[in-house]
Amino acid sequence: MLEVRGLNKVYEGHQRRVEAVRDLTFTIDAGDLVCLVGPSGCGKTTLLKCIAGLLAPTAGEVLLDGRPVTGPPRGMAVVFQEYGRSLFPWMSVRDNVALPLKQKRVAKARRRELVDEALAAVGLAGTESAYPWQLSGGMQQRVAIARAVAYEPEVLLMDEPFAAVDAQTRADLEDLVRALWKRLGVTILFVTHDIDEAVYLGQQVIMLSASPTVVQERLAIDLPAERDQLHTRADARFTHLRTHVYEQIQAAKRGTRTDAAVASVAE
Ligand SMILES: Nc1ncnc2c1ncn2[C@@H]1O[C@H](COP(=O)(O)OP(=O)(O)OP(=O)(O)O)[C@@H](O)[C@H]1O
Ligand SMILES: [Mg+2]
Repeated sequence: MLEVRGLNKVYEGHQRRVEAVRDLTFTIDAGDLVCLVGPSGCGKTTLLKCIAGLLAPTAGEVLLDGRPVTGPPRGMAVVFQEYGRSLFPWMSVRDNVALPLKQKRVAKARRRELVDEALAAVGLAGTESAYPWQLSGGMQQRVAIARAVAYEPEVLLMDEPFAAVDAQTRADLEDLVRALWKRLGVTILFVTHDIDEAVYLGQQVIMLSASPTVVQERLAIDLPAERDQLHTRADARFTHLRTHVYEQIQAAKRGTRTDAAVASVAE
């Protein structure tokens, strides 16, 4: 469904040329939940912006349902890393969440329902009339998540969406993402630098190298589909997978690949 082919992105500045992404090729099937991990600065946000049609790649292309992405595709929602900049301060929480629904021409009554449902799902029922700046950072991020969820996207891109929330809320939101994914059948590409989070959430984990970035490895997460914070994280298989991803990311930072670790996971 989502295809990234030979994607390369070079930022050209006055004095500075940064090859953020060298050559990324991967595909994501409809309905998959794929986590993307990689060292800080390796180009994860750059990649998501290219997929979302917000940034033109220097070379290569992104295809959605076989069609090249040239601008923000309909049916795609993005939760950005910088939540502070993604909400409109002069609009109430309700209006922020409802905005994309208005653009989608959803009828008013249905809009209200979707907004209420989404805010309840992220634990923000009752904040409808507040303004973003009256909320904590973590709450603002949850508004941004509610906005993406209310839109009922076919593809959801999330860029380190839980970085600003406390550990308990984070665990709840991780479970929320899995619950929504199961309920809506949405395709999710979830970027995180948290290895445990990637393994806990994903059906698959794509590991990126350090910049200039290529795909270091793609790993299937063969944990049971029913996951919960206590048992899944205590599972020996979970520990094994996270150790492997950790080693690969360390290797990525050094610019090598640990085949010993691959062998141990294959056992
Ligand atoms: N607008 C820009 N102009 C020039 N260089 C940029 C720009 N945006 C990003 N870069 C550079 O591209 C590289 C990748 O940045 P990017 O934000 O995509 O990384 P990231 O993996 O999302 O990092 P983090 O984990 O810290 O969010 C970095 O070296 C960064 O300095
Ligand atoms: Mg980023």
